[in-house]
Amino acid sequence: MANTVATFRAAKGVSRLSMLTAYDYTMARLVDEAGINCILVGDSLGMVMLGHDSTLKVTMEDMIHHCAAVARGAKNALILCDMPFMSSQNGIENTVRNAGRLVQKGGAQAVKMEGGQEFCGEIKAMVRASIPVMAHLGLTPQSVNAFGGYKVQGKTRAAAQKLLDDARAVQDAGAFAVLLECVPVMIAKKITETLEVPTIGIGAGPHCDGQVLVWQDMLGLAGRAPKFVRQFGGVADEIKKALATYREEVEHGSFPTRDHCYKIEGEEELLDKLY
Ligand code: KIV
Repeated sequence: MANTVATFRAAKGVSRLSMLTAYDYTMARLVDEAGINCILVGDSLGMVMLGHDSTLKVTMEDMIHHCAAVARGAKNALILCDMPFMSSQNGIENTVRNAGRLVQKGGAQAVKMEGGQEFCGEIKAMVRASIPVMAHLGLTPQSVNAFGGYKVQGKTRAAAQKLLDDARAVQDAGAFAVLLECVPVMIAKKITETLEVPTIGIGAGPHCDGQVLVWQDMLGLAGRAPKFVRQFGGVADEIKKALATYREEVEHGSFPTRDHCYKIEGEEELLDKLY
C-alpha cells in the first residue's frame, strides 16, 4: 500500500515508522520492495555518493537528479527529499520555489528541511503551497561550521529546552513529522511524548516514533560508522569478493564461456560468405 504523509500521521502512538536513504533507481527499488515506509533522498548523498567531506557542496541540481532516479524506482514508499544547503536559508520565496522544484522535477512527495523556530515562516509557506515538510532538529549537518563539528546536541538545560521549543514550533507551523539527529535519549523521549506528530530518530534512541539510517552505514559500505549505527549486513565484503573473482576469471579466460555467447542459425555458412 502506498505510504503518504497520512501514513505518518496515523502511525503516531500506533506503529513504528521505518525510513532509509536511497539515492538511485536500483537501491530505491530494493528499499521499496522491503516495505520500508519512506525513502529519504538525503543530502548525505554529497558524502556517500559524491565523495565530498560534508553536505555543504550539494546543489539543487544534485538533489533533483538523484530524487528523480529514486522516484522512478519506488512504488509505495513515501519519497522525501532534502532541501540542500542554501536552498532554504535565503528567504521564504526562494525556499518555496526550491521545494516546488524538488516536487515538480524530482518527484518528491515531501521535503525535509533543517532548522527550528527561526524557519517556521518557511515551513508555513511550503505547507500553504501543499508541500509537506519534515523538520530536522538536533545535529543539523548543514550547520557543521556553526556547531564546530558533528556533535550531540541538547546537552545543557538551555539547549534541551531550545530543542523542545523548536519541536513544538515546527509542529505548530505545520511540519508533518520531526527528525531528531544525535539527541540524548531522554530528551528525544520527552519530545516524542510532547508532540502530536511522529518523531524519526537517528542517534536519538528507541523512544522515537520511527528510525532512519543511511543505507551505506547499515550495510557496512561506509567504512567507520557512527555509534548509533547497527550494521545489518556486510555488503562491502561480498562486493569485494565478487569483484576479485570477476577480475581473476577475466584474466584467466574462464569468463565468458560458450554459455554467455549469442549463437545464430547457419553460423558456419555465414562465416564462409564473409571476406
Ligand atoms: O541527509 C541525510 O541522509 C539525513 C539523515 C542523516 C537523517 O539527513
